[in-house]
Amino acid sequence: MRFVSKLPEVGTTIFTVMSRRAAEEGALNIGQGFPDYPVDPLLAELIGEAVRDGHNQYAPMEGSRALREQIAAKIERCYGYRPDPIAQITVTCGATEALYDAIQTVVGPGEEAVIFDPAYDVYEPAVRLAGGRCIRIPMTPPVFAYDWDRVRRVISDRTRLVIINSPQNPSCTLARRADLDQLAALIRDHPISVLSDEVYEHVVFDGERHASVLAHPELRERSFAVFSFGKTLHATGWRTGYCIAPPAETLELRKVHQFNTFSIAAPLQEAIARYLARAPQAWEQLAGFFQARRDLLADELRGSGLRVHRAQGTFFQLIDYGALDAGDDLHFANRLINEAKVAVIPLSVFYAEAPPMTLVRLCIAKQESTLREAARRLREFAQRAARHGA
Ligand SMILES: Cc1ncc(COP(=O)(O)O)c(C=O)c1O
Repeated sequence: MRFVSKLPEVGTTIFTVMSRRAAEEGALNIGQGFPDYPVDPLLAELIGEAVRDGHNQYAPMEGSRALREQIAAKIERCYGYRPDPIAQITVTCGATEALYDAIQTVVGPGEEAVIFDPAYDVYEPAVRLAGGRCIRIPMTPPVFAYDWDRVRRVISDRTRLVIINSPQNPSCTLARRADLDQLAALIRDHPISVLSDEVYEHVVFDGERHASVLAHPELRERSFAVFSFGKTLHATGWRTGYCIAPPAETLELRKVHQFNTFSIAAPLQEAIARYLARAPQAWEQLAGFFQARRDLLADELRGSGLRVHRAQGTFFQLIDYGALDAGDDLHFANRLINEAKVAVIPLSVFYAEAPPMTLVRLCIAKQESTLREAARRLREFAQRAARHGA
């Protein structure tokens, strides 16, 4: 090779590995996070309409004006704060691009970003591509609490960014307002920005409310808040997300976005804008929709020996297999593919250094029939495993 790899230790992601193995073994794939049911027919209708109405050329670099107006109204309804659609909202290629752009905007060579393990896998490579490095703070099961004392100890004059994610994938836990207060106090006197990954903002269970940085007057002055229509509209393939940040930060972020993707598919933006205008409360059903699936899975697995770790949010659910198998989670995930014909994701891969644990992650963004079938296979596997003394 005539160049040096910038990400030498990055291989194929665990999602690809597990999905490939699931396909080889004919296993039911409830590992990777995407819905297996259709989008709202109205949304499907509106995409055709947008194409027919001629929204087929480059959209504005920062995002269509109609969509940004709808986003501003939605954020105001949810968090009591109206971002300026002209100066503060940028439409991106999924949340992934927004996260990447924000990291390139803020982190420079030799600088550091604090992230919390188990961490979604896009943060660290993006920090490394910016020439920086991640300081990874572990959160330990079963509670996965933020260790703010430890954060205080790692903050230095190299720290530029703290990345939080709530509801968190893959721990399925929430950051509460008290966590945001602690974070605000810790960084108050430092030139540190916050990148807040809030793609599961509407998937919060048991009557709790999502604590957005946008509802936190101090934090929103230094935050990049990232959202995903892929998650909110059950349309992960539409690759449409957005970033909300103060005007000066947005100006810099758009410099990265402009030379990265430039602008996002015009008909998709138009269709989403029209959808939000016609169904402004559509996302209010999301929490109930996924909570019903979480509870269905818990009911189906009750007494099986596989213990459900009651998710507080996200469209995932952790399962503790400790009563059935003493091996590590990668071994157990492979065992499930082979013996139960069910594919899941091990949790330890989301850590730099995983504490001892026996947890795997399931995706509940599936049809009820898919979840029932997965649970049936898992129950039968668990019975066999228990009979053979694990
Ligand atoms: C925590 C988290 N952030 C960001 C993303 C990426 O969102 P998008 O598909 O909109 O790029 C995901 C997708 O799984 C996620 O789980």
